[in-house]
Amino acid sequence: DWTMAEFRKAKIDEIREQVGDKRVICGLSGGVDSAVAAVLIHEAIGDQLTCVFVDHGLMRMGEAEQVVSLFRGAYQIPLVHVDASTLFLKGLEGVTDPEKKRKFIGKTFIDVFEDEAKKIGGAEFLAQGTLYPDVIESVSFTGGPSVTIKSHHNVGGLPERMDMKLVEPLRELFKDEVRELGRELGLPEIFVGRHPFPGPGLAIRIPGEVSREKADILRKADAIYLEEIRSAGLYDAIWQAFAVLLPVKTVGVMGDGRTYDNVCALRAVTSTDGMTADIYPFDAAFLSRVATRIINEVKGINRVVYDYTSKPPGTIEWE
Ligand code: XMP
Repeated sequence: DWTMAEFRKAKIDEIREQVGDKRVICGLSGGVDSAVAAVLIHEAIGDQLTCVFVDHGLMRMGEAEQVVSLFRGAYQIPLVHVDASTLFLKGLEGVTDPEKKRKFIGKTFIDVFEDEAKKIGGAEFLAQGTLYPDVIESVSFTGGPSVTIKSHHNVGGLPERMDMKLVEPLRELFKDEVRELGRELGLPEIFVGRHPFPGPGLAIRIPGEVSREKADILRKADAIYLEEIRSAGLYDAIWQAFAVLLPVKTVGVMGDGRTYDNVCALRAVTSTDGMTADIYPFDAAFLSRVATRIINEVKGINRVVYDYTSKPPGTIEWE
């Protein structure tokens, strides 16, 4: 029976003991897990830690800026911010298959991270925000069905290729405990309570071919949706909520003109672990407010629909 304050102290001692005076590199994803791991490790070993944030240009609105200002500003943790958006978006040209998108993004992420690690002179240790469910999931599939629904990527593949020792201070924790530890470490609530976001980012929320222009449109719609969810006080009751930009154009009317633009789908689910999920039952007034704002404020979208599919049979993401 321990408290988060005790856990924090014990882990700091453990990290110091493991790492000694060697250097550690940590890849930040923009998510809660890697941020909490990095802040904890920084508390233990200070400037022996360097963080690398590979920005694939497929983050949500303001996300990259938030990571950079939190680390460089509030915590003064050395951070290499790589804007690799051109590399990622060029490479995704013509790619429409969901698994090919994932594989390309995963591989490119590792390439960029590895290059940056070399540039800063390497390190003996690689830090990761691996959680307990990740640990179980990677061993629990023996004997299970041999179908891959989606090849999830975090930074899987990195450790083997880089031949580094791992520092994984969150291996015993579940998501809610990581959030509690984040609060204990003073991370801002907007960061700690954030909905999960997939490694491939907006690429898997743009069915069909991805482009910078589509990502910009989606980012705006998504930001409006989340802003309305927050101001309705619903954010914490929802596991994940996001917009999807469909590769379907429909006819509309705006003022006295005809429009011919894309459809935006809204998704919101409740879940405890992401394995199964139920749709969030917004009231009609809320949804119509969001739809009106998106159509009025986002050029390129003229129709909004709500996704009523639970998991199973649907998955949470559309790809
Ligand atoms: P699905 O769509 O499989 O999603 O029902 C379950 C949870 O996993 C997230 N997700 C991913 N996370 N890389 C990730 O890091 C991925 O490729 C990926 N695909 C889905 C999804 O956002 C949800 O939380």
